[in-house]
Amino acid sequence: MSHAPVLLAEAMDALALADGGLYVDATFGGGGYSREMLSRADCRVVAFDRDPDAIVRGAELSESAKGKFTLHQGRFGDLSLEQVDGVVFDLGVSSFQLDEAERGFSFQADADLDMRMEKDGLSAADAVNRLSEGALADLIYRYGEDDDSRRIARAIVQARAAAPITRTLHFAKLVEDSVGGRRGARTHPATKTFQALRMLVNDELGELARGLSAAERALKPGGRLVVVSFHSLEDRMVKHFITERADAQGRGSRYAPDLPPERTPSFSIDRKRATVSSDAETAANPRARSASLRWATRTDAPAWDELEPPALAPRAEAEWQKLQ
Ligand SMILES: C[S@@+](CC[C@H](N)C(=O)[O-])C[C@H]1O[C@@H](n2cnc3c(N)ncnc32)[C@H](O)[C@@H]1O
Repeated sequence: MSHAPVLLAEAMDALALADGGLYVDATFGGGGYSREMLSRADCRVVAFDRDPDAIVRGAELSESAKGKFTLHQGRFGDLSLEQVDGVVFDLGVSSFQLDEAERGFSFQADADLDMRMEKDGLSAADAVNRLSEGALADLIYRYGEDDDSRRIARAIVQARAAAPITRTLHFAKLVEDSVGGRRGARTHPATKTFQALRMLVNDELGELARGLSAAERALKPGGRLVVVSFHSLEDRMVKHFITERADAQGRGSRYAPDLPPERTPSFSIDRKRATVSSDAETAANPRARSASLRWATRTDAPAWDELEPPALAPRAEAEWQKLQ
């Protein structure tokens, strides 16, 4: 089992690694990015992952790169370092998480419907069995961007009235049947529903908002923010975050006195478009298909106010919050 890092060379180039620098790998995973950072420059790397299994996997590197590398279990939203030269996020789940059936992230093998990156707290089964039909439809439509959300939510509620839904394969089949089978689709009909549940269970959009703001505070002038995302909602959030902060916003004037005072850009961007994987990488690694990389350079202006996570599926988010 291994994890092939996506957009590795592109992410490293964007970080502009330099000897003596201090870099943050916000999502250690299998350590592909951290290893490459340490091999490209005589630098120090501080890495994080919220998954305890990733920390165990990183023990060897912690030992062999002692003094240059430290790995912490925790969420990148809680990052509180200062004066760093670069922060890189490689979002989503690792192949380790997907391939270990018992983690419950995948519908390729039967396991408990779990999906908790931290192995703690409420699981995907709690969401499926305890959210209202309206909240489930909201979640699958907004987070999963699945037009069949209402049909899927109805099927979930009908099925759980007979017995709780606890297993991945049972759940995937239920979703598949609710939309009338596979109909020649390239991806499994439950893909988007699984993704939506994973994002809710791990508060992935909230974490991204907190992580971006934490990185903004951590970076020193000239430091690089680099983000690889795999979901259009995440890519959109990253794009808005850096383009808004790279542009002086809301210049108040006597014609529009209600606008907030002008803000000094906290980032600059060289390239507005996202970098995507090459055809060769996509052919070799299907995970690369949806990858998108954006980066920006920190200016010396103060960090802006904390980014508010978008309330995308308010009904699902409110019900989920109540269950905590
Ligand atoms: C795509 S993998 C990273 C792969 C890594 N770049 C590599 O080359 O092996 C994403 C990792 O980020 C971790 N992760 C996701 N959200 C996180 C968060 N909010 N805080 C810390 N780690 C997170 C996941 O547990 C997973 O191990």
